[in-house]
Amino acid sequence: MPSQCPLSVLHRSTSTVPPKAIVSRTHDPAETQPSLDPEDWQACRDVAHKLLDSCLEHLQNIRDRPWREFPEGAMRATALEESGQAIGLEATADKMVREILPYGSGNTHPAFFGWVQGTGTVAGLLAEMVAATMNSNCGGRNHGAVYIEREVIAWCRDRFGLPAGASGVLVTGTSQATLIGLAVARQRALGATVRRTGVRDAPQLTAYAVEGVHQATIKAIELLGLGSDNLRLVPRSPRTFGMCPRQLVERIRSDRQSGGVPFCVIGTSGSVDTGSHDPLNAIADICAEQQLWLHVDGAFGAWLRIADPPYRDLVAGIDRADSLAFDFHKWMSVQYDCGIALLRDGELHRATFSSESPYLRPRDTGLGAGGPWFCDYGIDLSRGFRALKVWATLQAYGEAVLGETVSRNCHLAALMGDQIERSAWLRLVSPVISNVCCFTADPSRFSSLDPMAVNEAIAIHFQQRGGPILSITRVDGRHALRAAVVNHRTTREDVIAAIAAVEAYCESLPRSGPNGPAAAAD
Ligand SMILES: Cc1ncc(COP(=O)(O)O)c(C=O)c1O
Repeated sequence: MPSQCPLSVLHRSTSTVPPKAIVSRTHDPAETQPSLDPEDWQACRDVAHKLLDSCLEHLQNIRDRPWREFPEGAMRATALEESGQAIGLEATADKMVREILPYGSGNTHPAFFGWVQGTGTVAGLLAEMVAATMNSNCGGRNHGAVYIEREVIAWCRDRFGLPAGASGVLVTGTSQATLIGLAVARQRALGATVRRTGVRDAPQLTAYAVEGVHQATIKAIELLGLGSDNLRLVPRSPRTFGMCPRQLVERIRSDRQSGGVPFCVIGTSGSVDTGSHDPLNAIADICAEQQLWLHVDGAFGAWLRIADPPYRDLVAGIDRADSLAFDFHKWMSVQYDCGIALLRDGELHRATFSSESPYLRPRDTGLGAGGPWFCDYGIDLSRGFRALKVWATLQAYGEAVLGETVSRNCHLAALMGDQIERSAWLRLVSPVISNVCCFTADPSRFSSLDPMAVNEAIAIHFQQRGGPILSITRVDGRHALRAAVVNHRTTREDVIAAIAAVEAYCESLPRSGPNGPAAAAD
């Protein structure tokens, strides 16, 4: 007897009635469906080449392109018509170049100091184009993009001194990476059952971070159901502005005495306000002794790891972290958005996020292989190919040049600090520790004006006139202008010109008067 094909059973029908068509069709829509691919590929190439030229021209002349408010004309021109009328590829490309490209957030300009924001590079631009062409979904499976992401993670793991079993995942930024790191810490403290039971009946966990810790940590503690009241803010040492280890030990002891369950210390490497660094080695010693998890928020400051001494010394001990969160989109100049969560214990990391769903189980071979999948290490299932722009940045420029950029930015912040110390109009509000410089208009020069109003006027005046861009913050309750140097395009001349411009503006202000400086000067 001929052997029956095992698959033939799938085709065997038990009914003699022929299957009815579910929907009767008078025409086949596949024949009339418009394609989203170009009909004329040569015309499409011409549009694309012209667009790329415009982008490169924009970057080449970026000094003439500071932040500008999005004008009403551009708002009108970019409104999506209610009719949804298509305008085609060429007109769309034209609109992008004319109405959108000029109105970025200013962080590509060399005199942008206002916030800790990265600048981007041409290598990143090209990588984004390739990634968009591939349109890979990096949640999992067996394809080139996941191997590139693994390569980037392995590079970071080695640079930051974590062991071979450490794991990582690329994410939107440090906010998401912090949530991931602290979720793994919570799982270590409460056990795997927390995934099912939640924290309602769990012991009250307490965490510790320096005063002024970034909002990203507070948000992560809230989202994990731990409650931000249980995040203890530890005072800073007045000399270094980093967390005071003695005060940390006292807080932990006092919490244990009152029945709290300390579980995690969040160390900050590069505080957003002052660029200060917690003493990670001292904190890691305390964590080891007290059996606490050490998470490091190194959003930008972690990259001092590849800088020259003495700046590199500020992150000594970062390799002792249980979890690390930092960004590529800040000091590595990689295009937004891109950060990473690195975990010392890769198994625990996976156990915190892996799923049992059969449709998400890696196979042994084929496109469904490539396990373990990234969706088992974080929040997202569908994920873009973020790793390519990091990989391209490292390939194109190399670690040494990227490290030099970080060191040079710190030297430029120190230069800015020197200028301010010598200034007749300005005063430093905190020491320049790495790449952030906080200062104020000297209150003694504006006797009857509120120094806060003078600082606000300075920031707004220059934001509206194409820079230098500064922002406003508070340091130890004192109002301050903040300049963060995170930009590979910023030169010594930019820094000198920025402070000279602020001084000249101060000089132009009335020293006193009922209307305040902004009204008087503008
Ligand atoms: C110290 C610090 N932590 C966390 C964050 C949040 O990072 P992201 O914006 O990449 O989510 C920032 C952002 O500036 C930061 O400076």
